[in-house]
Formats: sequence, structure tokens, C-alpha cells
Amino acid sequence: MSGEPSSFLAACRGQPARYTPVWFMRQAGRYLPEYRAIRAKASLLEICRRPDLATEVTLQPIERLGVDAAILFADILLPFEPLGLGLSFAQGEGPVIARPVRSAADVARLPEVDPADALGYVLEAVRAIRKALADRVPLIGFAGAPFTLASYAIEGGGTRDFVTTKTFMYREPQAWHALLDRLATVVGRYLAAQAAAGAQAVQLFDSWVGCLAPEDYRRYVLPHSMKALQLAAASGVPVIHFGTGTATLLEAMAEAGGDVIGVDWRIPLDVAWARVPGCGIQGNLDPAALLGPSDDLDARVRDILRRAGGRAGHIFNLGHGVLQPTDPGRLRAVVDLIHEASARRD
Ligand code: CP3
Repeated sequence: MSGEPSSFLAACRGQPARYTPVWFMRQAGRYLPEYRAIRAKASLLEICRRPDLATEVTLQPIERLGVDAAILFADILLPFEPLGLGLSFAQGEGPVIARPVRSAADVARLPEVDPADALGYVLEAVRAIRKALADRVPLIGFAGAPFTLASYAIEGGGTRDFVTTKTFMYREPQAWHALLDRLATVVGRYLAAQAAAGAQAVQLFDSWVGCLAPEDYRRYVLPHSMKALQLAAASGVPVIHFGTGTATLLEAMAEAGGDVIGVDWRIPLDVAWARVPGCGIQGNLDPAALLGPSDDLDARVRDILRRAGGRAGHIFNLGHGVLQPTDPGRLRAVVDLIHEASARRD
């Protein structure tokens, strides 16, 4: 921005931009030494709860990488605290949910949550970040999608096979739909509240939905994601709908909603884009490519730009989050290459 219109927001709206905008999922995080320095003094949840620290961490990658958007520093699992599920992060083991949802009674017991109140500290962070950014780049808010959140709530943490989640989905369909409906309402209102606080776009992370067959996605997930996305879209900001392993789900995800569909590297960008006509596309460099040789990395970046063909509505990103061993300097080189190679010279 800084006087010029934002290339990121233009692309979200399907409008031409002066170059292809780029940002990276997990652009704030442990691969950055300045993030680790803050983590040495504060836990992940403390950083999320303190708007001053959340602001500092959100801004860390902006100058260093030259990206075209900032993403709020928070976590998709924060709503689990007011929902009474008991959230903590075990050292090196990822999230732990103390009281997982395992029965219809557990679903019925979930309290009503007003995100504007229960997650007010996140909204305070959004306001503080907007102020600190001073319109240099737009701010993206985010939340977890009903399915991905339900998987953590049911499993009690991360999983490889989603067996407990699917068992609940197939055996207790009524309780499943009640749970996803509750999560959709909380998440939709939470995204709308982030937009009202100043987030200029929002992303719904359905990170693990690719474990489902298309028919199961349509039956068990689509209506709930649609509800969350509609509540978010009503705020007026552009909405990005992201998942991984979604090559067979793209049409159904676009039907659920989103101005932009986020895809990973398992499907070529142009093939994915052809499957979601009318939407923008975000992606889709394999984050592991940043750990490979640099001529190969450049070739992959150029291939993605070639597949996008300079069409309006492409937002460059990784197919999933930045990996911990990534050298920040190589991310910077990728940003510079994208800007240089995609610049409109008219
Ligand atoms: O820079 C950013 O992208 C913003 C911050 C952000 C975090 N989590 C902070 C975080 C975002 C967008 C998330 C989203 C998130 N959280 C997702 C969806 C995105 C994805 O990667 O699919 C998921 C599934 C979660 C849940 C979660 N949080 C897990 C599984 C873990 C542990 C994984 C790990 O790397 O240890 C977290 C912890 C977490 N959230 C970290 C960060 C920076 C790890 C670093 C730390 O402990 O300091």
C-alpha cells in the first residue's frame, strides 16, 4: 500500500495488480531467529494473549521478507479455551486438548461462546497490528474451519489417520452435525469480528480436510464450512478458503465459499484453477523446495508463475506452512524473484 493500492487485495478481488502478490503461511514462526528470541521468554499462548508481543511477531517477517501481506499472529485452536476443552502446547509435541469431545453429551455441554468477548485479546491484537503496520501491507485474519477444528477436538491433538474423528462422524452423525454447526457459528462470528477490528481479508484454514472422500466432504462438512464462510463474507472483506490434499475436493470447496481457493503442491496450479472458475487461486510452492538447490527452487517458482499466466487473481504462497529448517534469506529471494518476474511493464 503506502500510497499505492495493495496488490494482495486487488488479487483477492480478481483485479489486475502491478505484480503477483506473495505471502507465506507461517511466515512468523520458529524458522526466524527473532521469533525464537521472543519464544525463549514467552510461551505460544502468552504471545497470542499479549497484543504487544503478537504485534511484534506479526511484523517480524514483513520488512525482512518483503511480503505483500501480514498474517495475524494467533492459532486456530484458541477458541478451544472458551469452549472449555482445555488447550495447551506440549514441548515439541504440538497441541494437547485436555477434555476431547467423544460423545453427544460432550457436544451438548459446550458453552455458548461470543468470540468478540471470549477472544477479545485477539481483536485487540488486530487493532494494534493495523496501527503498527500503518497501511504498509494489508492484514489477514484467520480461523480454523469446522472440520479441522473438530478433528483436533475429537482426537485430543494431532493425528495421522483421523480414525477417531471419522468413527465419531460415521457413528454419531447427529452429534457430529451439532458439533460442526457450533464450530461454524463460533468461527464465522470470530472471522467477522476480526474484520470489524481491522483485518482486511480473512483465511479459513481447513488444513486436514483432504483426508475425506468427496462424498463425505459434501455430506459431513460442506454445509458447515459454507455457514462459517457466509458469516465471514457478510463482513465485506475477501475470504480465502484453504486446505491441503484437496485435489478431489476443489469444486465442493468452491461451492462452500471463498473468493480465493488455497491449494497445495499436489496439483498443478493451472489444473486447480480450471476447477474453480470464478475464484482466485492461492499457492502453491512445495515448502520443501526451499530446502533444495536454488536453481531448482527458481525453476519451480517460475513454473507456478507460468501456470498462472499473469491472470488476475493469483496470490503466490506455499502449499502449506514454512518449514522450520528454512533459511529466511531464501524466502526473501523467492519474494524478489516473484515480484521481478511478474511485474507488469505497461
Ligand atoms: O505466521 C503465521 O502463519 C501466523 C500464525 C499461525 C500459527 N498457527 C502460530 C503457531 C497460524 C496461521 C497458525 C494456524 C494453525 N495452527 C493451523 C493451520 C495452518 C496449518 O499449518 O495447517 C494449525 C493446524 C494449527 C495448530 C497448531 N499450532 C499445531 C499443529 C501446532 C504445533 C506444530 C508445531 O510446529 O509445533 C501449533 C503451534 C504453533 N502455532 C506454532 C506457531 C508459530 C509453533 C511454534 C511455537 O511453538 O512457537
